[in-house]
Amino acid sequence: MPKVLVTGGKGFLGSHIVSRLSANGETVKILAHPRGKDKQSQNTIESNTIWGDIRDCQAVEKAVEGVDSIIHVVSNFRRGGSDKKEAYAVNVEGTKNVLEAAKKYGVQHLIHCSTIGVHGTVLEIPANENTPFNPTDLYQETKLIAEKLVCDFHKQTGLPTTVIRPISLFGPGDIRMLKLFRLIKKGRFVIIGDGKVLFHPSYVDDVVSGFTLCLNNEKAIGEAFIIGGEGYLTLNELCQIIADELNVKPPQMKIPITPVLELATACEKICEPFGIQPPLHRRRVSFFQNNRAFSIEKVKSVLGYKPQYSIKEGIQKTIHWYKSHGWL
Ligand SMILES: NC(=O)c1ccc[n+]([C@@H]2O[C@H](COP(=O)([O-])OP(=O)(O)OC[C@H]3O[C@@H](n4cnc5c(N)ncnc54)[C@H](OP(=O)(O)O)[C@@H]3O)[C@@H](O)[C@H]2O)c1
Repeated sequence: MPKVLVTGGKGFLGSHIVSRLSANGETVKILAHPRGKDKQSQNTIESNTIWGDIRDCQAVEKAVEGVDSIIHVVSNFRRGGSDKKEAYAVNVEGTKNVLEAAKKYGVQHLIHCSTIGVHGTVLEIPANENTPFNPTDLYQETKLIAEKLVCDFHKQTGLPTTVIRPISLFGPGDIRMLKLFRLIKKGRFVIIGDGKVLFHPSYVDDVVSGFTLCLNNEKAIGEAFIIGGEGYLTLNELCQIIADELNVKPPQMKIPITPVLELATACEKICEPFGIQPPLHRRRVSFFQNNRAFSIEKVKSVLGYKPQYSIKEGIQKTIHWYKSHGWL
């Protein structure tokens, strides 16, 4: 029975991938950080977990030994964005460890999970795989270096690889959007700017389908794919859908973006010398400022990918999950 290693298999996306592979009858192995040992994992079925750090090449080798393919999901995505040493070690050196181990043990396919963030602030709407790279922060910068490493390694050694750039994920298991839902429910969400900025939410199950579609697929070797939901919408439209599903009024209050940006810049300047995380920073404001809209045409035409969930259905399922945990 072919074995698949999922690095980061107890995280949000990773655990959904593990569940799907297990449901499809695959034998799954997981590499997970030991700090997550005590966390409950609802999605992990009959898995074989190696507890280790991606920065530790021996742990990575132990995880890779005996598997036929790898889905490399680990990144420092949720672990604070400002630690340069950690970002490079986890995203770049960690990926190097996975590549070297994959080569050593003759892995047949490595899927590397990158991000649409490598395109940074996109000017072209919708952006596609050929849109120039334009990373704007440490996370995006290190994810781009890792992605390039994977492509170079494929060209130099012949290791079969695929790069997937997921578009902004949401769904059960993720609480990054909980605050937005809660504020809308309480009628307290304030839109900074005119709310016409574009969003491209991708329901996690659809992105998982993209990963399984690529796995051991000849047509995916040596390729990079942007994978996500079918469409994008404005922040105003997103808020309207969430409000409708929560049976409340959509956000009414809007404030201009320029003074908020000035305040964010001042906050950063004041906090930086003291090493304090600013309560407001430009990256947070960029949520209301930078368009995120991508084309998924390549993965549709090359691999026959088709998202199954509309944004509305994804939001319904996410609300259901938040409510089932008593969070909403
Ligand atoms: N979520 C999105 O919207 C989005 C969009 C585009 C791309 N992505 C990419 O998708 C992937 C998964 O993201 P996610 O949202 O599922 O984040 P996540 O839940 O934080 O998953 C990342 C996993 O990596 C693990 N990890 C972090 N540092 C590690 C280390 N040094 N050694 C071993 N494991 C380590 C984390 O463990 P701990 O929980 O213990 O830290 C976690 O299980 C990432 O590669 C991210 O760049 C995400």
